[in-house]
Amino acid sequence: MQAITVRDRTAGVDGLSLTEIPYPRAAENDVIVRVHAAGFTRGELDWPATWSDRAGRDRTPSVPGHELSGVVVELGFGTTGLTVGQRVFGVSDWTRNGSLAEDVAVEARNLAPLPADVDHTVAAALPISGLTAWQGMFDHGRLAAGQTVLIHGAAGGVGSIAVQLAREVGARVIGSGRAADRETALGLGVDAFLDLQADQLDDVGEVDMVFDVIGGDIRDRSAGLVRAGGALVSIVSPVEVRPDDGRAIFFVVEPDRGRLADLAQRVRDGRLKPIVGAVRTLPEAPAAFAPDRRTPGKTIIRVTED
Ligand SMILES: NC(=O)c1ccc[n+]([C@@H]2O[C@H](COP(=O)([O-])OP(=O)(O)OC[C@H]3O[C@@H](n4cnc5c(N)ncnc54)[C@H](OP(=O)(O)O)[C@@H]3O)[C@@H](O)[C@H]2O)c1
Repeated sequence: MQAITVRDRTAGVDGLSLTEIPYPRAAENDVIVRVHAAGFTRGELDWPATWSDRAGRDRTPSVPGHELSGVVVELGFGTTGLTVGQRVFGVSDWTRNGSLAEDVAVEARNLAPLPADVDHTVAAALPISGLTAWQGMFDHGRLAAGQTVLIHGAAGGVGSIAVQLAREVGARVIGSGRAADRETALGLGVDAFLDLQADQLDDVGEVDMVFDVIGGDIRDRSAGLVRAGGALVSIVSPVEVRPDDGRAIFFVVEPDRGRLADLAQRVRDGRLKPIVGAVRTLPEAPAAFAPDRRTPGKTIIRVTED
């Protein structure tokens, strides 16, 4: 089958290529999914799990991409809860071959059924961004109605979903990003937009939570905005500059079938609209890792037509 693979850790995105690799083997409790649409994270070539398996052994050539939507074509020994022919979407394991492939082996528990009226392209934009936004703001950050949250990178993959979920619970949302992201963020429902290159961070005033997808100096300077008892939640790396009297949280997203189903329901009833910025084919995936033109939201790789 065809897949995008990487072999050379030093080559960056130039090391990505379309390759013929063996069809995956379904381990215990796995399913094989025929991938219809896949998502990836630009920075994943820097993740140790892209290069090593759980035992720390070199696992190259490895297939990147950890978000998928498709159809179950095979069950592993002992697999329950899903059936052959079922539409599913979810997250593939960080330390195994991923979703930029015609077929992928995934633990069944990391997938949720995909309702018939949700398109694979939209579903593939949801798993990591949706779970990360939910877990960060509500499970870790405990954002509640009436509170104010500053969401950095509000027009990006995670940020655009975070904005919509925060609005839905009744939080006041300040979104940040580049000047070109202002209209996208306002369209998502932010109450105010902060242009990170032109506006002063301090103008935001106190907030109950900062949800950070950018890191670095922008995150460090945001710690001082968190009011007593609030939280700075980052998904980029461990927080170094903490709020004076608040929590500092870094976490890595975890698969959650129930929450995935819940997010899909939001898409069905129109409460949540993932932004699909660009749709590319599998051979176009290497170029999509380093686009010559920026687009808001997620880039989706369409692998198999319905
Ligand atoms: N911990 C976890 O479990 C977890 C889960 C998912 C993602 N992540 C990480 O979270 C980060 C964001 O992921 P994503 O998928 O949301 O990425 P994304 O779609 O690229 O979104 C990031 C957004 O922030 C903007 N941005 C970045 N630097 C900026 C700056 N200096 N000034 C203004 N705007 C800036 C980006 O604009 P430009 O495109 O113009 O730079 C983009 O709109 C990545 O590092 C990813 O690896 C972590």
